[in-house]
Amino acid sequence: MGLNTSIRAARSVDRIVGSADTAATTVHLVRDRGAEPQVRPASRYHGDEAGAPDLLDFAVNVRHAVPPDWLRLRLADRLTDLAGYPSAADRTAAVAAVASRHGVPEDHVLLLAGGSEGFSLLPALQPGLAALIAPSFTEPEAVLAAAGIPLRQVVLPPPFRLRDAAIPCSADLVVVGNPTNPTGVLHPRDSVLDLRRPDRLVVVDEAFADAVPEEPESVAGLCLPDLLVLRSLTKTWSLAGLRVGYALGAPAVLARLAAARPHWPLGTLQLEAITACCAPAAVEEATAGAHEVSRLRTQMTAALRGLGLVVIEGHAPFVTFAVPDGVLMRKRLQAQGIAVRRCDTFVGLTPDHLRAAVRPEWPVLVAAVAEVLR
Ligand SMILES: Cc1ncc(COP(=O)(O)O)c(C=O)c1O
Repeated sequence: MGLNTSIRAARSVDRIVGSADTAATTVHLVRDRGAEPQVRPASRYHGDEAGAPDLLDFAVNVRHAVPPDWLRLRLADRLTDLAGYPSAADRTAAVAAVASRHGVPEDHVLLLAGGSEGFSLLPALQPGLAALIAPSFTEPEAVLAAAGIPLRQVVLPPPFRLRDAAIPCSADLVVVGNPTNPTGVLHPRDSVLDLRRPDRLVVVDEAFADAVPEEPESVAGLCLPDLLVLRSLTKTWSLAGLRVGYALGAPAVLARLAAARPHWPLGTLQLEAITACCAPAAVEEATAGAHEVSRLRTQMTAALRGLGLVVIEGHAPFVTFAVPDGVLMRKRLQAQGIAVRRCDTFVGLTPDHLRAAVRPEWPVLVAAVAEVLR
């Protein structure tokens, strides 16, 4: 995609480029031009399918069981307003709150029904070839494949560093998560920016960026014309059921993404939540929470390593590790009332990789894992 936001027709030959040590990187063809749209079924699997009301849920990364009291009260206050259509004033307030939170102009903000909606709008850009850095969140793959967009999975080998990525030259859309779900790897922002090329849009999924204290590698405030950042408010604020997030990008890119949306893409409660969660006090609360998550993560990682397990080095509100028999481990944990996230649905990981949310209850999980390993 050009810096003028026009996506050019993909060049017909894909040359693979990368740094000298990219030999281990594999590039999987997922879908080529002209092929029937076909979605890999596993790309539609999400962690919430592993949970159940009677299980201690480490499979989903939503921070708390309920949204904070102050946020629930604030949303409850707006219930009577649901008789009317979402107002321009509410939309303006939410856009202003996001813009101010990230220090970007208001025309660089697109409010979304969750970060996932941002992915679902990408086909509107009509990319010629999308390169997806894997392992990663599978929604981009699912929606782009369903729309018939040619795809390549650029599979990073352990330790999943971005500098090892061999991106096809002709990729005019590159999607990367930072920190990445499911590995938890936090890429240096320079590595993210190195993905930029003329005629290419780099999409950075920062759904978990607010769980990293001070967000040192975030590119959210950069306002580069060929960068689109997707942010989620559903994890940190325990609002997965409300669907709230936003995109930060060049106005022309945002306009193309939004062109075919309905007139009221977000409801009043969603707008109120975005305004509330981007206010300075909320951002401060999120930062404090990120420090706590980071502290718990260090303990949880050390305990899992203490069991002799390989834990992927990362900075995210979840931890991914490998066990000798992942299928058996999940089954035995479930029998002990614990759900963890299977990782064989992610391109580049195996049935023996498991992902667990960082929670204060981590000792229960580690004890249960130890029990299974005994
Ligand atoms: C890496 C990643 N990006 C984006 C999303 C989308 O989040 P939401 O649509 O709830 O904002 C998720 C949800 O699980 C995710 O894990």
